[in-house]
Parts: sequence; C-alpha cells; structure tokens
Amino acid sequence: MNVENLIKSRNIPELLRLNCGRAVENAADFEIRKKEIKKLLQEEIYGVIPKKPDHMQVSLASENPVFCAGKADRKDLIFTVTVGEAEASFPVISVIPKGKTSCPAFVFMNFSPDSPDKYLPIEEIVDSGFAVFSFCHKEVTSDSGDFKHGIAPLFRKSRTPLNAPGKIAMWAWAAMRVMDYVETLDSIDLDNVAVVGHSRLGKTALLAGGFDERFKYVISNDSGCSGAALSRGKQGESVAVITNVFPYWFCPRYVANAATYEERGYDQHFLLALTAPRVLMVGSAEEDLWADPESEFLCTAAASEAFRLYGNRGLVHNDEVPTAKSVLDEGDILYHVRRGTHYMSREDWQEYMKYITKMMESK
Ligand code: GCU
Repeated sequence: MNVENLIKSRNIPELLRLNCGRAVENAADFEIRKKEIKKLLQEEIYGVIPKKPDHMQVSLASENPVFCAGKADRKDLIFTVTVGEAEASFPVISVIPKGKTSCPAFVFMNFSPDSPDKYLPIEEIVDSGFAVFSFCHKEVTSDSGDFKHGIAPLFRKSRTPLNAPGKIAMWAWAAMRVMDYVETLDSIDLDNVAVVGHSRLGKTALLAGGFDERFKYVISNDSGCSGAALSRGKQGESVAVITNVFPYWFCPRYVANAATYEERGYDQHFLLALTAPRVLMVGSAEEDLWADPESEFLCTAAASEAFRLYGNRGLVHNDEVPTAKSVLDEGDILYHVRRGTHYMSREDWQEYMKYITKMMESK
C-alpha cells in the first residue's frame, strides 16, 4: 500500500477542516485552524498550558569557564518562578561554546540532571557549534502522580477540572521558561533555537514547540504514543495502556475518554502540524516497537499537508514506509529511523545537528 492509502486506512480526523465545516485552503486558514487545534489538544489530551509566571528570577549557583577542555562556558543556574503567592525553583545547566557570537541552541529536557550524560554528548554538541540549555524533568516536578512537588502546586489545586494540566504540560511550560531566559542572552542566535526531548520528553518537546513559536526546530526522539505516533491503528503502546500506567502525564479528560478517544476528533498529526511552517524533526528506532516507527512516520507524513500550505515541502518521501536506517532529509521536515532500540543516541543528535546546519545554510 502506498503512504496515502496507509494513512487513509487509519481513519484519522481531518486536519484541514475548520470546526465550522469549511475546508482549510491556505496558510491564513491554517492559522485559524491552529487555534482550534490548540484548544482541542489542551482540553482533551494535555490540559491547559499555564500562562507565564508573574515573576521569574535566574540565579547563578556555580560556573565553570573551562568546561569541555576549555571549549565552553558552563553555568549551573537556578530558575525561581512565582505565581501569585506560590514559588518554586528548578535547576538548569547552560553550556555555551566559547568564541562564537551567535550560536544555535538546544533546549533539552533530560531524564538525568547531568551534563554530560548518556543522552547528552555535550562535548560533541559544543564541537558542532551549538549551545545547550538542559534540565531534568523530575527536578521541575516529579514524574509521578504527586502534584505537590516542584512547580505542580502552582497550577493544580485540590479540585481538579477535566482540563487541568498533566505533567507533560508542566514540563513543556518549564521549557518555555528556559526560552524566556535564552532570549535575554546576546550570544545565542534566537532564530535558531530547538526544543528537544526523548520518549516522554519527546512528547513534551512536541507540545512545547507546538505552542511556543519561538522554537524554530521541534525535535521528537522516539516519542511514540501520545507523541509523534498516530494513535489510531497503532502497534505497541495504546492510549488505553498509557493512560492506565501514566495518567498523571495528561489531563483527567484524556484518561476518562481513553476507551472512546476515537470519537473525540483528534489524533497526533494535529500536534505535529502545530509546528508548521517551522521545522519538525522526528526520529524513530527500528526496534522500538512500543513507540511504533511506522505510526510515527505516517503521522509525520499526515501532518505534512499543513506545512505545504505555507509553500513548504513538508516531508519528502519515496511513497513507502522507511525501514532500517533511513534519513528523509530532502524536504522541510526531517524523519529518520536508525537501527537499534529505544534510546537517544549520538547518531540521533548527529542527524538533528546536520539537518539544522543544512537548514541554516539554505537560508
Ligand atoms: C514508557 C511509556 C512511553 C514513554 C517511555 C519513556 O515506556 O510507555 O510512552 O515514551 O516510557 O518515556 O521512556
């Protein structure tokens, strides 16, 4: 079956149709559609993303001017956010290559607070000329149903509405706060900032980047269910399973409607399409059947029609589902699948950096 028919066989809701029933025909229409999609995804899946804090303060905890053999400046920062009377803090590590005036940068959400880390080959990234602002999601608010930890009590009170933000929305909010800080730095090229995460944090990167247009590049690595994979017809993890094991990642309505989500009028290509006309990058791993590479590829292909409304080529593919080690980088969306298992590998980082560099040079 060709890609178009494979997508059709999933019976996904129409991306290019407004709620009033009129077809989306151009970029101006899609800007209206985006607003509808943002509302839908917040109400139905992730919960309402909170507004900016009333106040934010960034303080320096320590500094290393000879990080990575002296090639970069490292600053360990503490972000303190205030909402009304409530306050919370979380650490962020800033690593900026030396001697460059305008660096592209990654806002990277990680499973560990370390830099370097198995998922963060910081020296290789610095050598490629990128700055990295990283934080550990668990230090923002715990990866659990405990809504008393970290920033969670700022946004989720005891009576929980069906659209209350889940943890993914809160981590995405933290990535936006890091971007607020990045915007104050002279050394960063603000037209070339990426938001990136792996797995549950890949889902988070899609949400942060979909809602915050300051991120030029939105990178999802192996994000799977409720991330870059279509939910309808998906193999491996399903909406029923993810909402049973990790209900606190989402708003209560997603959990309540898990068995009937197909009647609710959304699928994950809506989330990916919010990045249009910016740059979307989706990475899969051949053996990551829980995430389901085929559903990630089809979702990326399905989202492409929104990008094309802006005169953007979207994902360029050969009309077949890519298998082991394929890089689809001809168009304005990157999709790649590498050999191996669920992981954020150096190979993934290299693909993303290569593609950003190519996009920067093509301007
Ligand atoms: C679990 C979960 C996935 C998630 C992954 C991760 O496997 O089922 O949805 O992506 O954890 O974040 O590592």
